[in-house]
Amino acid sequence: MCGIVGVLGNHEAAPILVEALKRLEYRGYDSAGIATVNGGTLDRRRAVGKLVNLGDLLVHQPLAGKSGIGHTRWATHGEPNEANAHPHRSGPVAVVHNGIIENFRELRAELAEHGLTPQTDTDTETVAMLTEMFMRAGATPTDAAIQTLGKLHGAFALAFLFDGEEDLMIAARRGSPLAIGYGEGEMFVGSDAIALSPLTDRISYLDEGDYAVITRAGAQVFDAEGNKVAREIRKIEISATRIDKGGHKHFMAKEIAEQPTVIADALSHYLSAGGEIRLPDPQVDFAQVERITMVACGTAFLACLTAKYWFEQIARLPVEVDVASEFRYREPPVPAKSLALFVSQSGETADTLAALRYMAGKADRIASVVNVPESSIARESDLVLPIHAGVEIGVASTKAFTCQLTVLFLLAIKAASDRGTLTDEARADHLSQLRRLPALIAEALDQNVAIRETARKLANARDVLFLGRGPLYPLAHEGALKLKEISYIHAEAYASGELKHGPIALVDEDVPVVVMAPRDTLFDKTVSNMQEVMARKGKVILISDREGLAEAANGTWDTITMPDVSDAVAPILYAIPAQLLAYHTAVAKGTDVDQPRNLAKSVTVE
Ligand code: F6R
Repeated sequence: MCGIVGVLGNHEAAPILVEALKRLEYRGYDSAGIATVNGGTLDRRRAVGKLVNLGDLLVHQPLAGKSGIGHTRWATHGEPNEANAHPHRSGPVAVVHNGIIENFRELRAELAEHGLTPQTDTDTETVAMLTEMFMRAGATPTDAAIQTLGKLHGAFALAFLFDGEEDLMIAARRGSPLAIGYGEGEMFVGSDAIALSPLTDRISYLDEGDYAVITRAGAQVFDAEGNKVAREIRKIEISATRIDKGGHKHFMAKEIAEQPTVIADALSHYLSAGGEIRLPDPQVDFAQVERITMVACGTAFLACLTAKYWFEQIARLPVEVDVASEFRYREPPVPAKSLALFVSQSGETADTLAALRYMAGKADRIASVVNVPESSIARESDLVLPIHAGVEIGVASTKAFTCQLTVLFLLAIKAASDRGTLTDEARADHLSQLRRLPALIAEALDQNVAIRETARKLANARDVLFLGRGPLYPLAHEGALKLKEISYIHAEAYASGELKHGPIALVDEDVPVVVMAPRDTLFDKTVSNMQEVMARKGKVILISDREGLAEAANGTWDTITMPDVSDAVAPILYAIPAQLLAYHTAVAKGTDVDQPRNLAKSVTVE
């Protein structure tokens, strides 16, 4: 949700900034811009739309200078036009910002008293204006930036650059992540380590409330009280080549195809050859846990809903699941002996982080399932369970979802073992199904061409319904979410048994209904609901295994064949047709699969 980058370098900054912004474009793509200082003069270029537009602009209007800041925007305040694009400038100050300045209206009133009027609709511009105001009053650039930080409410990661200062950048973090990169006589800042990975492998993260005074010689970091602090510099291992699509048309296609490999990788981190589930320290004794509270957003929330079935059925452990944006303001009571479990691909989602902070000190233990072990959510958790999915670029989450499910399933089995709710035989059976999962997913991926044909038909629909029962019910939601976010087709999901309580009124010959129904213990009941749809001319796409299709395919509009799988593991496998259906429908409609409209990958504002 907005990406920021900065460089004090020894080479021309513009190409470095644009290259780093490419790596951050998943955070927003409404507009992009850079500012540099060259021969003491601050200047900027900004362009509406994707980063490529900024690249084109820079061909015609190049920007020289070895110091610079850059931004890729996901609009919050003010429509995506050039005036609202970052960097924002006020006199000698340029600023890039990720987050929201909540008190910008009050600040504007104060600025007006000093004769400073805004030129844009953004909250960010007030940051540059305040800094200018303090500089006019005689403050040095550094002191002016520090005084400005003291006046801001809200969430932000900020980088400041100043006219006349070739060797100075101020960076600050409150609520939004910010990494500092250490080079050889060069320094960098970025919203995440991924942006900086081609530039340096030595990274430190600012803590909440920190700010840094950066020159080419290094960074002096201060905490929120202004005390000088040392933040650990770590060596990171993110491949510099990771933004490659690997021969696929889209990142999403690549990430869907990677699932057998990344799930095998996740399994190898947690499951020994002998069947032991190895979790990182500190260990949780689930026999002592009386309740799990799981909180997340979007697809990660749907992973939690699926895991609720596992924890409750396999480990007999009560689970509460909530979306973070609701949970954080509901102030729920936290029962004793609670484990709080937060699931987040990015580890930076603002609502999930706020929910975690609410639970800190209330739950016995804070655990997180994340894809980015250096993320804020991971760093504020007692126990971190990385999902090992590798970097996910496509805005619609795919491999992170199935890896989240895999790790959560293993956690449920561990919980069951601790609580003695699983026989050795049942445990071994679950683990052997999990070990088969990469091969089963590869088999499901073989349906790619068939699913593409189904998707071509789906592309003409205006509304689509998804149905599922048991652990396939959250999967129905995931299928609907994927479809709407990348194909822009309106889609809803219902528990199969809930259909006749209202939503069946929507069914007619124009509404495709995707039914996810492996031949499990609830199959017959789902098929009855499916028959009710077909009796009303609904066009059913049935996703099931061979046995299920042999029994129930008659009269359906289309079918998708899945390999046989155990009831418990089915939701992980059935994510594949849900993803492929959405992907091919979006491709058939010609939408922007990897960067769908209005969305951004890392949602660092609430
Ligand atoms: C949907 C999707 C989003 C994210 C949600 C949470 O495809 O990707 O719904 O799942 O924004 O993001 P994380 O997992 O980073 O907390």
